[in-house]
Amino acid sequence: MTETTNARARTLDAGDPLARYRDRFDVPEGVIYLDGNSLGCLPKATPARLEQVVREEWGRDLIRSWNSAGWVDMPAAIGARIAPLIGAQPHEVIACDSTSVNLFKLISAALAMQAGKHGAQRKVVLSEPGNFPTDLYMIEGLERQGLAMRRLAGRDALAESLDDDVALLLLTHAHYKTGELFDMGALTRAAHDAGALVLWDLSHSGGALPIDLNACDADFAVGCGYKYLNGGPGAPAYAFVAERHLGKARQPLTGWFGHAAPFAFDDDYAPAAGVEQMLCGTPPILGLAALEVGVDLVAEIGVARLYEKSQALSEFFRQCLHERGVKLDLVSPTDPAQRGSQLSFRHEEAYAICQALIARGVIGDFRDPDILRFGFAPAYLRFEDMAEAARHVAEVLESGEWQREEFRERAAVT
Ligand SMILES: Cc1ncc(COP(=O)(O)O)c(C=O)c1O
Repeated sequence: MTETTNARARTLDAGDPLARYRDRFDVPEGVIYLDGNSLGCLPKATPARLEQVVREEWGRDLIRSWNSAGWVDMPAAIGARIAPLIGAQPHEVIACDSTSVNLFKLISAALAMQAGKHGAQRKVVLSEPGNFPTDLYMIEGLERQGLAMRRLAGRDALAESLDDDVALLLLTHAHYKTGELFDMGALTRAAHDAGALVLWDLSHSGGALPIDLNACDADFAVGCGYKYLNGGPGAPAYAFVAERHLGKARQPLTGWFGHAAPFAFDDDYAPAAGVEQMLCGTPPILGLAALEVGVDLVAEIGVARLYEKSQALSEFFRQCLHERGVKLDLVSPTDPAQRGSQLSFRHEEAYAICQALIARGVIGDFRDPDILRFGFAPAYLRFEDMAEAARHVAEVLESGEWQREEFRERAAVT
């Protein structure tokens, strides 16, 4: 049976139009990397680009590079390159700060817009319990300042919770634990019908699957640069503001880079008219340079092709597990069209199993309390990797090697 599985994997790899892109990444020998949804692999072009920025642009050209190398325009220029990946116009997206900080800025901006329109009453930010913690914490922080009221409603109750008090609906498109997708168009419409604005967190879907923010009439969005965009650890994130809100949505971190004329050094803040108002302080050029390489690579491959392959990979992985008799409780939707590029399984020993797999070179991750999560970043994964990863999962479970003491010790980052 496994013979045919391996033969099938080889056939699928041979016919894979994206197979050649694996060589554009530095995938370590002996590693099957199923965590590109957490930290994308290193593009081979990134070290050379960083070397150039460090040695030439910084080392040799020094401060002149703000103009000569276009450093000052990088947040907007890279935002413009992210835009087509998420169905936005180039001037609606900017690369900056972390996703958490961008959430703060956009939630605040949305609340201020609603206060202007409806008075101080509409303060509720609606989200779902179990959303990524930072999304919930950022609402809570604004609540502590008296600016927001946090309301959480389960997926089935979201629509009916959209009452006259809701200023903003904040949801993560692909759930970080289960990968389950929200219907972005339907929920945006429901929120608008109720007079609310919508902010989508695209961290687990941007660069992984086709998104059309403008077709959905989305108001705002944020997303991570270090996951599917392969921008490197702590890469700058991005923020999207729909064209109709530019100049009206004002974020409150009124640093000088969001000023209409930062180098006029005026005593008073005048907001930039465009998406640059989302900036705050000096952009991190090294991080942006690395992000640019990752974004360009994703754009070159094409999100639609990436998603198609990730669905095929995850389905093949499930099939391989099934053929090996592995019985794990899938918490992701069984229909690949209903999930992002990941599969998550529930097991009370998920942490130890994850560590045992990592020791074998199969790198997935664990999400507290009991989720074993595998991401399928299709630019550098082969079908052969799926068959091999499934073999390792089966062996780890059958042998009970996960019970070894060393696999139970919790590291700071899981
Ligand atoms: C859905 C989601 N939002 C936000 C974040 C955090 O982003 P950042 O670390 O850039 O603040 C993550 C990180 O994994 C995430 O999964």
